[in-house]
Amino acid sequence: MSLITDLTRMYLTHSTKPFIFTNDFDKVLPYDNGSEFGLYVHIPFCKSICNFCPYCKVIYDEETAKGYIDALIKEIHLVGRQWNGRRRATSLYFGGGTPALLADRITDIISALREHFIITDGIGIELHPDNVNVSVLKTLKSAGVDKISIGIQSFQDKYRRVLQRRKFDIKDISKALNEVHFETVSMDFIFALPTQTFGDLKNDIDMAFANGANHIAIYPLIDFTFTKNKVPAMPKKEKRKLLDDITNYCISKGYVRKSIWTFASEESASYSSMTRDNFFGFGCSATSLFKDQFKINTFSVLEYCKRIDANILPTALTNRFVKRQRMIYYLFWKLYSTRLKVKEFEEFFDIPLNKIYGLEFRLLQVLGFLTRDEEGYKMTLKGAFYYHYYENFYTLSYIDKMWGIMRKEAFPKDMRL
Ligand SMILES: C[S@@+](CC[C@H](N)C(=O)[O-])C[C@H]1O[C@@H](n2cnc3c(N)ncnc32)[C@H](O)[C@@H]1O
Ligand code: SF4
Repeated sequence: MSLITDLTRMYLTHSTKPFIFTNDFDKVLPYDNGSEFGLYVHIPFCKSICNFCPYCKVIYDEETAKGYIDALIKEIHLVGRQWNGRRRATSLYFGGGTPALLADRITDIISALREHFIITDGIGIELHPDNVNVSVLKTLKSAGVDKISIGIQSFQDKYRRVLQRRKFDIKDISKALNEVHFETVSMDFIFALPTQTFGDLKNDIDMAFANGANHIAIYPLIDFTFTKNKVPAMPKKEKRKLLDDITNYCISKGYVRKSIWTFASEESASYSSMTRDNFFGFGCSATSLFKDQFKINTFSVLEYCKRIDANILPTALTNRFVKRQRMIYYLFWKLYSTRLKVKEFEEFFDIPLNKIYGLEFRLLQVLGFLTRDEEGYKMTLKGAFYYHYYENFYTLSYIDKMWGIMRKEAFPKDMRL
């Protein structure tokens, strides 16, 4: 599995050097004034744990959650006070876990962030279907949230049972969404479940858009090695057919493809926390990306709180990129959004794209994966499938390995990917 990603990485970085993470870290973060920054906040509490879920989370407990949010606010000030004045940040996303379990504290977190950042493009939060009621939605809206993403997974009992997710009534969700309006209402689904057909997914997509969503995310089930997932993987051929059918259906309905997995019924709807050139992540397991480094906070809630209590950043590991590693990281996430603007790449790296990857981009065009227009490159249907296929390797070679290590040890000595 990792052979494919290793060879690709070696070829594209012109080096055999892996991504090396060490436990040393910068006390003052390398904030770069000229670049666009996103913000991410991780809240790791859930009422119950789903077998398939790889994210950093623990069972909700009031006292631990309170201590955690206090530490989180302290981390925001520890970082934010490293510079004078407020900096521009594009977006803020809350992920988890189930962040809305602490809906009453979201205002405090946003206020702390606003002391240090001017957030220009909106605030998003992930919700469990259980959280979608008028009271929680109103609390979030008055805190400044404009985008929500609801983890539906499937509208059908049959597949909810496969994923061991509780039943909910879409009419209640739809009613609450009608009463409290958000700029983006996204609904998350998981596909490639055993026996799942295009008809099942078409039904999910139609129900989402008919019940308040203006954006959907359809992720293939990924079988992370460290989860208790027992759901078998769908054969590759069937999965490809499903992905193509879903994509063609969404395009035929006039939905805009926002990324490999996401479609919107309105151009203005968007929900993506990963496609930023740089970002600050706060909370346990949160990552931060800068011009020349990537850092990961500890995955342990307890150790996270202890570090913050001692006024030390909770960084567990840092990878200091060599330039070409940073370039492939950049290109991977730009292509995830299915578009790459050449001028943006050249401004970010101060070098012509053609000079670095001219041959590779020509080859991708010849193979029919990308098309070229005035601004840059656009992913074709074929390109999107192969990206999806490659992303599966990427997830299992890098994310699975990284999260597997981080879950076992709060502060590993090092990590090589
Ligand atoms: C943090 S959860 C969403 C919020 C909330 N905790 C919930 O479960 O509804 C983020 C999303 O990741 C997706 N997800 C989780 N585990 C996955 C897996 N193994 N494969 C594919 N998608 C997964 C699910 O669609 C889920 O809604
Ligand atoms: S899928 Fe959502 S509710 Fe389930 S364990 Fe993961 S974060 Fe928690």
